[in-house]
Amino acid sequence: MEQIVINGVNQLSGEVEIEGAKNAVLPILASTILASSGITTLDNVPPLSDVFIMNKVLEEFNIKIEFNQVQKTISVDASGELTSIAPKELVEKMRASIVVLGPLVARLGHAKVAMPGGCAIGSRPIDLHLKGLEKLGVKIDQHDGFIEATADQLHGADIYLDFPSVGATQNIMMAATLAKGNTVIENVAREPEIVDLANVLNKMGAKITGAGTDSLKIKGVDQLHGCDHSVVQDRIEAGTYMIAAAVSNGNVLIKDAIYEHNRPLLSKLAEMGVKVNVSDDGVRIIGPKVLAPADVQTLPHPGFPTDMQAQMTVAQLKADGISTMNETVFENRFMHLDELNKMGASYKVEGNFATLMGPTDFQGAEVSATDLRAAAALVIAGLIAKGETRVSHLEYMDRGYYHLVSKFKQLGANIKRVRIDAAGRETLVTDDQVISEESLA
Ligand code: UD1
Repeated sequence: MEQIVINGVNQLSGEVEIEGAKNAVLPILASTILASSGITTLDNVPPLSDVFIMNKVLEEFNIKIEFNQVQKTISVDASGELTSIAPKELVEKMRASIVVLGPLVARLGHAKVAMPGGCAIGSRPIDLHLKGLEKLGVKIDQHDGFIEATADQLHGADIYLDFPSVGATQNIMMAATLAKGNTVIENVAREPEIVDLANVLNKMGAKITGAGTDSLKIKGVDQLHGCDHSVVQDRIEAGTYMIAAAVSNGNVLIKDAIYEHNRPLLSKLAEMGVKVNVSDDGVRIIGPKVLAPADVQTLPHPGFPTDMQAQMTVAQLKADGISTMNETVFENRFMHLDELNKMGASYKVEGNFATLMGPTDFQGAEVSATDLRAAAALVIAGLIAKGETRVSHLEYMDRGYYHLVSKFKQLGANIKRVRIDAAGRETLVTDDQVISEESLA
């Protein structure tokens, strides 16, 4: 078993560098399926476990991948004969692998992808993905735990999404690039990761306009080719360090942070009394001695991101007064509050609405991560808790945070990662030992 061990109370200061966005690179890797000629080279790729899983999924299709983890570059050659079956073992490990469905059926006329199950934060259906693909002329069959998609030739269509789902927007947009004729998709997701994906597709030869607005127009082309691209910065990783600085009365420069991508978070932090200084170097966060409470509601972009909700609740619980959090995107995303309760937090949850009773005098405790962002929230709470906090189930953390321990250490935190053997002996684990392809075997 591995744990992150934090001794508090920590006040963070210094500078932190942010990786490329996990949620951008996963669909971008899926998009390389569409490139029937040439090689795609991606730069600024975070060496995270989710990225290794997506590479393995692509290798299943006979795509050649070279990942240089030191340079953080991946080159992808999808120009050979491809196969089209994504096995259960891999899709089960990562729901996001469902975004291979659209590109596979568009390129090969066939795709068989294992049905992604539910996950800790909600049931996460994929009905919108499938409805959109059907509109493009894809026949969908569900049997034996698989989704089988077939089409002779995709055709353009007018599609309206009932909800601006990120994954559905990506799947349908990718498929429509090779459809005959024009596609319009309305009420689409507007996240920066959608814009990054559209940029890659256009570099590959696709004709997409409107990315970043609520309507996408796609003129189908016959084929796509490889391209070079540098992945956009991870706004959620950046936001996580912003909150850590804010709650620890810290002073931290988040290097090259893109203000617009984190505007909903930064405006809330400002409301809570945090100083936000934007410069050419990035965004500097200066946390106050006492945070003011705030009411927050998660929404699709450009609303407050659900992926920042768990971390934000730590700031709200620390604030001097009562705050509320209304989680409107996922139905079961408050599990971290039970863990924060072990550290002294007091709250009330009614459905998707949490009332958070600040100020909390956080105390160190043994806590367990329940999902990726919950893991980050527990570490942030540990930083400002008195005494020792131990966070376990780091496999969640490793999906989305690269070198988290060394980054917090560099900001002055008393934090380490340890492995505990059956006899209870502890050995130190460095960040470089955390993610390797072998560890996923
Ligand atoms: C992506 C992100 C995830 C983030 C989420 C919302 C990746 C790899 N993951 O996930 O980190 O938390 O966006 O910002 O980019 N829904 C349906 N039917 C569908 C699809 C979605 O009802 O066909 C619902 C979901 O159950 C959920 C909501 O829509 O309640 C949002 O889901 P969606 O935007 O699709 O999230 P993901 O793409 O899965």
